[in-house]
Amino acid sequence: MDTVKLTIDGVEVEAAAGANLLDAALDAGVYIPHLCHHPDLTPSGACRLCMVDVNGRSVVACRVPVEDGLTVSTETPDVTKSRKVALELILANHPLECLPCSANGKCELQRVSAFIGHDADRMVRLRRTETAVPPDTSNPFFDLEMEKCVLCGICVRTCDELQNIGAIDFTHRGMDTRIGTFADRPIIDSSCVSCGECVVRCPVGALVPKTFEDPAREAASICPFCGVGCGMFIGTRGNRITHVRGDQDNPANRGSLCVKGRFGLGYVNSPDRLTEPLIRENGALRPATWDEALTTVTRRLTEIKEKHGADAFAAMSSAKCSNEENYLLQKFTRGVMGTNNVDHCART
Ligand code: SF4
Ligand code: SF4
Ligand code: SF4
Ligand code: FES
Repeated sequence: MDTVKLTIDGVEVEAAAGANLLDAALDAGVYIPHLCHHPDLTPSGACRLCMVDVNGRSVVACRVPVEDGLTVSTETPDVTKSRKVALELILANHPLECLPCSANGKCELQRVSAFIGHDADRMVRLRRTETAVPPDTSNPFFDLEMEKCVLCGICVRTCDELQNIGAIDFTHRGMDTRIGTFADRPIIDSSCVSCGECVVRCPVGALVPKTFEDPAREAASICPFCGVGCGMFIGTRGNRITHVRGDQDNPANRGSLCVKGRFGLGYVNSPDRLTEPLIRENGALRPATWDEALTTVTRRLTEIKEKHGADAFAAMSSAKCSNEENYLLQKFTRGVMGTNNVDHCART
């Protein structure tokens, strides 16, 4: 990997050629406040919070590539002043009560505010007349609360650059700018596939899962839904799954998950889950022992094969089964039932 050497606050650091100044500083352990930058996405320079001084000029660090010999200062009077103004303009349009917010404690705006500081009296004077944009709660898995949005555009770039969907964008103009869908439809009526990738990248509490509880512990696992085998961490409290997040280090998904992996594990704790065999008799299901159930299945399959032929039978398997279980099912279908009518939910 080609590297370059530059100086940040008097300390020489090495950075990957092609990196931007913000990533280089963060990698070197120097915090520069930022809201609109995400390492997975093209820098946009929207929030103006990552201002630094380079060789005497103020620049936004996320948009400037590193070069050999650059001298960067992250704290000068001009830099501090412009960051303060940029933060005030954001806070002037943002609620200041964090306790009820589900991002409380994980919010980048809180971190930025604590770092830069703000004058609460000035906030009151700057605050514009509130414009109420009702939250979009149409998606079954997450909500969009525009009053907390800082218009960083991370969700828009995520949906466009990473998911290639473009379900959401900036809509309206000027003071009315917001995140929305084509023709201002509810998210559920847009082309959104509910992957939640925008939700996990939103730096504040504007895009939030419908249900979230901090887990007591996490376990590394593999998504049970399909053959891609995405790596995930499953957070639990007691025996309840409370949260799922993608594993950044898993080469199959590098942290991404689809709607099934991210939001679909509710079945594990569902009270409707089957816990014993059931046999249908006279139109109603009754509990049975495993011996009774297996005997019934064997008898009925034999009757069907004798009466209608092997091709009257078909087996559909599931990605929730292990490879060995799927192998056994196709073996049974071909070797015992005598048909190739076997398929799998993850084939397409
Ligand atoms: S988004 Fe952040 S700053 Fe805004 S209310 Fe929530 S926790 Fe507080
Ligand atoms: S959930 Fe996925 S598809 Fe829907 S808006 Fe967010 S990134 Fe786009
Ligand atoms: S919803 Fe979140 S990610 Fe999207 S622009 Fe607003 S603050 Fe940024
Ligand atoms: S992080 Fe650089 S302008 Fe927002």
